[in-house]
Amino acid sequence: MRHGHCWNLLLCVTLHLGYVAAGISQGVLSADDTLHHGPIAFLSSWDVLGPFRVGTREAVWGADPIEFHGGIQSLISNEEPLYHSPLTRGANVHWSNRTFIPIDTKTSTSVELVVDFPEVDWQFAQNVYGWSALQFQGWLKGRIWNADTGVQKVVLYPDNILELWVNEHHVFGGDFYGFQRAPVVVDLPPGLNNISVRLIRDVRSMGGTLPPVVRASLRADLALVPIDISPQSLVMPDVVGGRFCSPLGSITVRNQADSWIEVRQVSAVLAEHSVVVASDAIRLGPGQSRPVKVSLGSIEGMQEAIHFELQYSLAASGSSQVAFSAPLHHTTNSSLQKITFLHPSGVVSYAMLRPPPTTHGAAKDSVVPVLLMLHGAGVEADGSLARHMFDAAHALPAWILTPSGMTPWSSDDWHIWGFADVEAALLTVPKWIQDAAWAGPGVMAEKVLVAGHSNGGQGTWFFATHQPDRVLGAAAASGYSSIENYVPYAFWDEADPLRTGILQTARSSFRHELLTDNLVGVPIFQQHGSEDDNVPAYHSRLLNTLLAEAGQLVDYSETPGRGHWFTGTMTTPAMLDFYLGCLNGSSSVSSIPAQFSFVVPNSHELGSKYGIVIDQLTTPDRMGRVTVTTSMHDSIPRWHVTTENIRRLHFETATQLGDTPWEVVLGNMSDSFDVGVATKGSSFVKLETNVWAQEIAPEWTNIGQRYGRQRGSLDSIVRSAGPFEIVYCSEKDLPLAIQTSRNFLQYFGADSNISHRSRYEDALKREGNVITLGTGASIPPPYLPSFPIQIGAEWLSLKTKDSNTVSIPLTPGMGGIWLRPLPEQRLELVVWGYDEVGLRQAARLIPTLTGAGQPDFVVLNNETRWKGHSAAPAMGFFDYEWRISPASFLP
Ligand SMILES: *[C@@H]1O[C@H](CO)[C@@H](O)[C@H](O)[C@H]1NC(C)=O
Ligand SMILES: *[C@@H]1O[C@H](CO)[C@@H](O)[C@H](O)[C@H]1NC(C)=O
Ligand SMILES: *[C@@H]1O[C@H](CO)[C@@H](O)[C@H](O)[C@H]1NC(C)=O
Ligand SMILES: *[C@@H]1O[C@H](CO)[C@@H](O)[C@H](O)[C@H]1NC(C)=O
Ligand SMILES: *[C@@H]1O[C@H](CO)[C@@H](O)[C@H](O)[C@H]1NC(C)=O
Ligand SMILES: *[C@@H]1O[C@H](CO)[C@@H](O)[C@H](O)[C@H]1NC(C)=O
Ligand SMILES: *[C@@H]1O[C@H](CO)[C@@H](O)[C@H](O)[C@H]1NC(C)=O
Repeated sequence: MRHGHCWNLLLCVTLHLGYVAAGISQGVLSADDTLHHGPIAFLSSWDVLGPFRVGTREAVWGADPIEFHGGIQSLISNEEPLYHSPLTRGANVHWSNRTFIPIDTKTSTSVELVVDFPEVDWQFAQNVYGWSALQFQGWLKGRIWNADTGVQKVVLYPDNILELWVNEHHVFGGDFYGFQRAPVVVDLPPGLNNISVRLIRDVRSMGGTLPPVVRASLRADLALVPIDISPQSLVMPDVVGGRFCSPLGSITVRNQADSWIEVRQVSAVLAEHSVVVASDAIRLGPGQSRPVKVSLGSIEGMQEAIHFELQYSLAASGSSQVAFSAPLHHTTNSSLQKITFLHPSGVVSYAMLRPPPTTHGAAKDSVVPVLLMLHGAGVEADGSLARHMFDAAHALPAWILTPSGMTPWSSDDWHIWGFADVEAALLTVPKWIQDAAWAGPGVMAEKVLVAGHSNGGQGTWFFATHQPDRVLGAAAASGYSSIENYVPYAFWDEADPLRTGILQTARSSFRHELLTDNLVGVPIFQQHGSEDDNVPAYHSRLLNTLLAEAGQLVDYSETPGRGHWFTGTMTTPAMLDFYLGCLNGSSSVSSIPAQFSFVVPNSHELGSKYGIVIDQLTTPDRMGRVTVTTSMHDSIPRWHVTTENIRRLHFETATQLGDTPWEVVLGNMSDSFDVGVATKGSSFVKLETNVWAQEIAPEWTNIGQRYGRQRGSLDSIVRSAGPFEIVYCSEKDLPLAIQTSRNFLQYFGADSNISHRSRYEDALKREGNVITLGTGASIPPPYLPSFPIQIGAEWLSLKTKDSNTVSIPLTPGMGGIWLRPLPEQRLELVVWGYDEVGLRQAARLIPTLTGAGQPDFVVLNNETRWKGHSAAPAMGFFDYEWRISPASFLP
């Protein structure tokens, strides 16, 4: 949940963001133009239908009961008297009306939508079903008036809304957390326009308080200029000694025109001359927003602000310019500062860095570790709350690094995208040291001290369970144990247990309760306020208990009378003592235990445990496990390694404590393998005959094998090594491509390059992962010819592992989404529909919110629109050879 006392801490924090309003001026617009536009206004009368049940994050799957009646677009408010709902007396609900007074200006209209259902006995439901009972869904129908005589383009900000319709235009994604990064650009014909808003009440974003209320808002601004540059989107490094402390910045540009726009270049306008800071042509589709990266390395002598000019061209017309400026923040080399760097996907991200103290005794050539601080939900890393978290720890001999995770929700709860941001931030510290000619202590690269609060406490568990060999210590404050344990998954549509199991498997890498074996030997400290009503102390108590059962006694401080957050949470005496113990080495465990286990979720984020690295699981249907017994054999260290569900593993020799094995015995084999330096680069593979073999050569890493960044579930698609390449197969799919790009930017801060199907081959050659959207037979054939899902003229055929073919007849409303392999560990996500309805359904499952649990492939039909995952005719996983796994659900 959003962290802090106020459920809406995000709001509180963003108001304090402290950026000075940046100036934007458009050369293309005369003052007259504004006068020629008629105003727009929301009407104050709205019709509401609800409440219906919805499970935690289930809305991603559709699961909209109104679809059973043909969908909100076909419903006339007040007409049908009753709809069924399990939440209300008599099991029915009907339309009612509400009044929400809009606030209008000459060029904008906004309305706050606050909806509750006082007739429901929420308290009783909560007594039985907990927080799940405080989540619900419904629809609001309202109208917006365009007083002009012509079509007007508006920019719509749907705060805390996941799904809506504007006339015939469907929007999925919206802006569930109210980031306002990627608004929707829509055309409003003159007169009355219909707006339908799907209300989703979510405890993690809206709180666990009674009575449950949905708070959302809509703001529509007239789009008066073809290109918009949002000052809120500026990412600029701090200035230290007259220079930027890191060389990258970024700003988001939005195309508000009807045609494509190309951003040609950006220049910094300095006192005497201009410097080109971005020169790669960037194409934006109509309504698309993209972050534009600027290189600031060569700029010196900074004042309060820096001025830029952006050159663009609109379709056939010549080039135009727009100017903007960025306020600058000056600081010193030893202070907390904002550093920028590239996320692996090629977008500029930032983190806050506080160098270690140089005052007492630190030898010039000494190195100190990084204390990595993972923030909670709704917290901006450069906001005042995060900036002051370590004020009381000024003497701590560590680099304190607070990554952003690229959104105040760290995008995906610090899991894949957010984790990649953490890795990139860590790699920036040595670069900063070099660029700043820093004369103080250096940075220890091998291990980090991880700490986090709330969502970041959960992120700390994720980091430590997945990267145990890299953790110097882990301090989890008010952390939750897993998404499912936080707000329970009751109230989801009832499904066949295999379907439910598949979704659970897709989330299993984030079930820290199942991964506690991996933490044995890692120094850990837990802290939780006993009165925490946001993340209950149960989470910390549970992990403490499970850790004890795994053989690890962990210090746990449950602070009496404390809530979720208080000033100094991260620097209580017990926390400080733990950091110091880890930093001075007195907490570290010096030897490998005689016996240990390693639990292996299907995840590329999983690193090594005592040097063991898992490359592939035999089946993705369950987790793997490695159990090791160490011994001496003829005075040579030998490990007996037994495995469950492990296909391939190798040993990393460099990172470990002294007593790494020289020999291993795998499974029940009578002979041992040598794992010395001579065999570096080799791996051990369990053949289909159940015999282990050693492979010296890395030739196995080919297109037919699933490995590296391809490991995981459908959300592996976000491990992109460049901007997402979104390919739309026909012109009518372009709006969906724009929506996909908007959602990637909104929820991940990601960039997307949109191309038409005719440029598919080029898109395959670039670095980013590819999203291919299309209907019918327009999807290009798979790069891997043996790929098991093929779209035929009448059937969708799925080849099972034992080479049987299951065919599903194509029917209206059908769709599907699945991963396909590309070379070099890249992935393609096919988003396919038999028709537009099916395609729109499939596109919902492109990653946005965490916890939805998309497996590697899902086939949807007409009924999944209201039954969600419970009606999906097929879904499951691909194994290490891209074959459909045995436990997949097939007709
Ligand atoms: C799809 O579902 C709708 C109800 O929303 C129903 O009216 C229609 O007949 C269904 N179409 C097919 C092909 O099953
Ligand atoms: C709301 O509905 C009631 C009952 O149908 C009606 O009397 C009232 O005028 C409506 N109010 C608005 C604002 O439409
Ligand atoms: C709005 O919805 C009404 C039916 O409720 C329909 O008659 C009208 O045409 C719609 N307006 C637009 C602009 O689509
Ligand atoms: C910080 O900057 C000052 C001024 O440039 C310099 O004298 C000092 O050596 C720097 N500190 C370190 C630790 O590099
Ligand atoms: C290391 O820090 C711990 C915790 O503050 C302290 O108890 C211990 O004495 C320190 N040890 C050394 C060798 O400095
Ligand atoms: C080891 O166990 C597998 C079954 O797990 C069996 O097929 C194989 O024959 C056994 N090998 C030896 C050497 O016992
Ligand atoms: C984006 O795609 C276009 C083709 O549609 C291509 O020319 C361009 O190089 C791509 N841009 C990037 C940054 O990859």
